[in-house]
Amino acid sequence: MPIVAVVNQKGGVGKTTVALGLAAAASFRGARVLVVDLDPQANATSGLGVWEPATTVDAALEADRPGSARALAVPSSWPVPEGVTPPDVVASTPALAAREPQLANDPIGAQDRLQLALEANGYDLVLIDCPPSLGLLTVNGLFAADRALVVTEPGAWASDGVAQIKRTIGRIASRRDGRPALAGIAVNRLGRTRDARYWHEQLIEHYGEQVLGPVHLRAAVAEASAQSLPIHALGHRPGAPEASAELDSLLDAVVPELARPAPEPDAVVGTPDAPASATVPAVDVATAPAAAPTAAPVPSLTGEPDVTVRPPTLPTPPVAR
Ligand SMILES: Nc1ncnc2c1ncn2[C@@H]1O[C@H](COP(=O)(O)OP(=O)(O)O)[C@@H](O)[C@H]1O
Ligand SMILES: [Mg+2]
Repeated sequence: MPIVAVVNQKGGVGKTTVALGLAAAASFRGARVLVVDLDPQANATSGLGVWEPATTVDAALEADRPGSARALAVPSSWPVPEGVTPPDVVASTPALAAREPQLANDPIGAQDRLQLALEANGYDLVLIDCPPSLGLLTVNGLFAADRALVVTEPGAWASDGVAQIKRTIGRIASRRDGRPALAGIAVNRLGRTRDARYWHEQLIEHYGEQVLGPVHLRAAVAEASAQSLPIHALGHRPGAPEASAELDSLLDAVVPELARPAPEPDAVVGTPDAPASATVPAVDVATAPAAAPTAAPVPSLTGEPDVTVRPPTLPTPPVAR
């Protein structure tokens, strides 16, 4: 089963946002998804609407515990349409920050504790949201993964940062029969400025076809995480369908095992079997569970572009299990 580590040693580039966007895309496709939150800041945990979880990833890391992830996972409180199972999460806790130096003291190495915990987990997709560092938490994420997705912004010196994390991935893969493979470099928060375009082009020049995406800078994306909602449930909120479509395409590229069949050419205009209006079913956000009290106010991204307009996404059959 695919296990994707979402990585970059830099903070604020969108690792958590992309991990949760991919989790939403896969869940809304019918897949059973597990998110592992390895960042002591616990943004993925709160983005999934989980507050004060009874169990956390710390228990999987404190000792060798083969197969423990399944029992430690708790369900996300994401509101989802009927027929969709919200992701589960092995939640983070600020206490995780103290675990890293303890891992370093294990004389036989503690890089593979998460890998052991994820043995026989039974999910269709596991997404590991890594912290913004190259320490032992991220190394545990990379040891557990069969592929790594580097997330970056198209900002100054992004290429240098990507080169650094690629070296780490390569060093681990060279000791482990090529695991994890580089799934690609997702360019997130792509705005419409000349600066953003320049740094995006630099990334493409350096890394060619490894560059995936982009996911554009959009207020709807920030709103979804601030409200602990899946982007796919924001319905026709401006920018949400476009952001969902970009994350759907990213999922196709990173996890081809869950890729949608190509739509029939005439299906987009609507046929009796495939009405054109059928997009990802939206959840009535007004009746969704209220976001937890600590959820941040919705940030305003003035002047942000909603530039990519794509044809409507057709519904796809649930993934066979
Ligand atoms: N495509 C996007 N459009 C708008 N805001 C975004 C986008 N991606 C990320 N953000 C916002 O940027 C901030 C940092 O993103 P986050 O996913 O937490 O980064 P990281 O996990 O790498 O630290 C968050 O406030 C998030 O809502
Ligand atoms: Mg994060």
